[in-house]
Amino acid sequence: MDASTDVRIERLDGVLAITLSRPQKKNALTAAMYRQLREALALASAEASIHAVLLEGEGEDFCAGNDIADFVQLARQAASFEQTEVWRFLTALVGFDKPLVAAVRGRAVGVGTTLLLHCDLVYLADNARLSTPFVDLALVPEAAASLLLPARIGFVRAFAMFALGEALDAHAAVELGLANAALPAAELAPRARAAALALAGKPPLALQSTRRLMREHAPLQAVLAAEGREFAQRLMSGEAQAMFQAFMARRAPGR
Ligand code: COA
Repeated sequence: MDASTDVRIERLDGVLAITLSRPQKKNALTAAMYRQLREALALASAEASIHAVLLEGEGEDFCAGNDIADFVQLARQAASFEQTEVWRFLTALVGFDKPLVAAVRGRAVGVGTTLLLHCDLVYLADNARLSTPFVDLALVPEAAASLLLPARIGFVRAFAMFALGEALDAHAAVELGLANAALPAAELAPRARAAALALAGKPPLALQSTRRLMREHAPLQAVLAAEGREFAQRLMSGEAQAMFQAFMARRAPGR
C-alpha cells in the first residue's frame, strides 16, 4: 500500500482532523507516518484558521505503536537518533501549541498511548485498552512519558504499565484522569468531533495561552532528549533485537 495514504488530514470548521489510516497493521507507525504527522502538526500550527486538532485512528484499533519492522531498520541506521522521524515527530508533538483532541477505540500500544499524554481532551470507546509495554520489548519509555505518566497516574501504576506491561481499560483510564469519558463505540467520533469543534469556537488566544500555561514545554523537551539517548542504546541492544525478531516471527523470544 502507498505510504502516502497512511495519514489522512481533513479540515472541518477550524479543526484539522488527522486520521491514522493503516488499519491492516493496526495503525502501527512507520517513519513515513511520523513525517506525515509532523507535517500535519506544522500545518495546523501555521494556519491561523485552525484552532484545534482532532486525532483519530481508522479501523478497530487506534494504534499498535511503532512499527516493529521499522525499529529493526532504525537500529541499523548510523544516523543519530535525533535525526530520525520518530524523534522529530515527538519533539514537534511536545512543542505543539494548539489543543489536541483524541478519539481512541481498541488498542493503543506504546507511542499510541504515550502520545495521548500530549492530548488535551481524550475520548475512549468502551473497548479501548491503553498499554505501554516498553520493557517487554527491551525498550524504555518515550514521548516524555517517563515523567508524564507517573505524574498523571502515580509512580507504581505507571511502573506496572512500563515494566509489567499492564494495560488500562477505558473505565480505569477515565478514573485515573487519562481520559475524559468512556463511550459506546458509536458515540466516540461524534463526541470527539463535537469537542474539537467546541474548542475551535473559543477565543483562540486565551485557549492557546491556557494550554501553554498548563504544559511546561521546556522541561518536557529535556526529558524527551534523555529518553531519546537511552532509547537509542536499548534499540541497538541484542535483547531488543531478539524481541523484535520474535514479534515478527510470532514466537516467544528465545524459542
Ligand atoms: N509493528 C508492525 N506490525 C504490527 C504491529 C507493530 N507494532 N502491530 C501489529 N502489527 C501487524 C501484525 O504483524 C499483523 O500483520 P500481518 O497481518 O501482516 O501478520 C497485523 O498488524 C495485525 O496484527 P495482529 O497481531 O494479527 O492483531 P491482533 O488483534 O491479534 O493484536 C495487537 C493486536 C496490537 C495486540 C498486536 O498486534 C501487538 O501486540 N502488536 C505489537 C504492539 C507493540 O508491541 N508495539 C510496540 C510498542 S513500543
